[in-house]
Amino acid sequence: AVDNVDKVLDLAKRRGLFWPSYEIYGGVGGLYDLGHVGVKVKNRIIRLWRRLFVEENSDFVVEIETPVITPKRVLEASGHVQNFTDPVVECLSCHRVFRADHLVEGALHISAEGLTTSQLTELIKSKGLKCPQCGGELGEARTFNLLFTTNIGPYTGETGYLRPETAQGIFTSFKRVFMSAREKLPLGIAQVGRVARNEISPRQGLLRMREFTIMEMEFFIDPKKPGDPPISKIGKRKLNILLAESKVRGDPPSSFSVEELMTGKLVQSPWMVYWMAIANDFVNKLGIRSENSYFEEKLPQERAHYSSQTFDQLVVIGDEKIELSGHAYRTDYDLSRHMQFSGEDLTVFRRFEEPKLTRVKKVVQLPVRKDKLTAANLTEFLKGKSPEEIEEALKLGVVIGDTPLSTLVKVEEVEEKVSGEKFVPHVIEPSFGVERCLYVATLRAYREIQGRVVLSLPIDIVPYDVAVFPLLGRDDMVREAERIVSMLRAKYDVLYDSSGSIGRRYARIDEIGVPFAITVDGDTLRDGTVTIRDRDSWNQVRVPQATLLEVLEKLFNG
Ligand code: GAP
Repeated sequence: AVDNVDKVLDLAKRRGLFWPSYEIYGGVGGLYDLGHVGVKVKNRIIRLWRRLFVEENSDFVVEIETPVITPKRVLEASGHVQNFTDPVVECLSCHRVFRADHLVEGALHISAEGLTTSQLTELIKSKGLKCPQCGGELGEARTFNLLFTTNIGPYTGETGYLRPETAQGIFTSFKRVFMSAREKLPLGIAQVGRVARNEISPRQGLLRMREFTIMEMEFFIDPKKPGDPPISKIGKRKLNILLAESKVRGDPPSSFSVEELMTGKLVQSPWMVYWMAIANDFVNKLGIRSENSYFEEKLPQERAHYSSQTFDQLVVIGDEKIELSGHAYRTDYDLSRHMQFSGEDLTVFRRFEEPKLTRVKKVVQLPVRKDKLTAANLTEFLKGKSPEEIEEALKLGVVIGDTPLSTLVKVEEVEEKVSGEKFVPHVIEPSFGVERCLYVATLRAYREIQGRVVLSLPIDIVPYDVAVFPLLGRDDMVREAERIVSMLRAKYDVLYDSSGSIGRRYARIDEIGVPFAITVDGDTLRDGTVTIRDRDSWNQVRVPQATLLEVLEKLFNG
């Protein structure tokens, strides 16, 4: 269990971070509101992610936004209609439904991720597992699809789903972004947006929600020429990784240097290593030290249907391991499936260094006389068809009007200089849940100092940069404090509060993690100095107002 969970949940409600939605109607499992402080921290988390993943890589990463509502066809193509499922088991007495793998894991202390429904049923029966709520008999395990269904348009509108990931909007728009943004690989297309999953057993806090925000990137590469990641940026870093074999043996995670990982032996693409190194930086900036997080390779049966290699980024808090992000090598799976289902060409052209002499198939018209109608019919028939399709038609004995196609055309192989070839890009995907980041950062930041709560959030994700307080509600102090607020607002996110005792005001900002408080007091009016108080040490320094911006700049940027 994680220490302080109940205290953090209480703080979250009390101070406007988050709470269960629709509370006045009893709440709905897995749905949470973010309060005024929660929204600010969430926006900072997104800003940090955007800085590290998008802006600092803007030579090859762009961001887009696509709809939540997704036509059925798209998620049939992506495989979600068939595969986005979890195993469930129902109690035959009380009819409560449980996640079968979690139930087996909890009761037998084994990893049940990726077991089939028949394996789960077998274990439930052979080990005599009972309903955890009423002790009744359990039925057979079956699969349950997590997609939320809706209708697009009134009455008998087309079936749609709420997207379970933002990725499919990126894949379906890949060609347009490629043409309009860069026309070059590698190309990262990022997206931040809401997703919905009808989770079977939502967990307390923001860990398993039914609607949440995802920050993800589909990074498209040419698998033959992936290009080199800007390794100088990630330097001589080490990543803690638990590889699949070590996981099976129950070893602890090992530390690998980025250079070692770039060889492609352990991780399928150097770009995957690159984004994992950035993910490690990101998590450090959420207040989680590298020794408390690691990447764990998923076993083949644990991976999503689209992935050929996946690493989860886990954060250790207490004796819990919480997945903050997933890093999947999605190969050409998604684009290929969308090509197949939509009939559109989603390939990219790979130019050869030198044009190559290649044998290609060509449709050649035979020198026979044909009447006008046959000529017109033939032109119509040939339009848009590849030589392979014509070959097939010839095999089938197609007739044009009453003339056999075989007397009109033939397919020959000729030598031609070609400048390149088409291919389907491969995709590497780092994907984070925002609310999970918010929750884990809050759990990590929670401290009790001398019986008081302090939320020691790292500087990048605080809800406000500074608070400004007049010591007393006197007009002259209030006016001076307001003057300081308007000066600082151009650069900082400022919380202003003039009511209540100063001790109470300090306590309140400590609880939401505001790192510095500037107080205007009697001395300010006499000599123009103010105090700056530090959230974590409660130390105060007195500085001239004229130097305030300079001092804050040092405090924020070292
Ligand atoms: N497109 C890839 C994808 O969706 P995922 O591992 O299913 O991958 C990515 O989700 C991240 O989203 C997870 O690592 C986790 O941080 C977050 N996440 C997943 N399910 C969640 C849930 N039910 N509630 C909150 N966050 C969730």
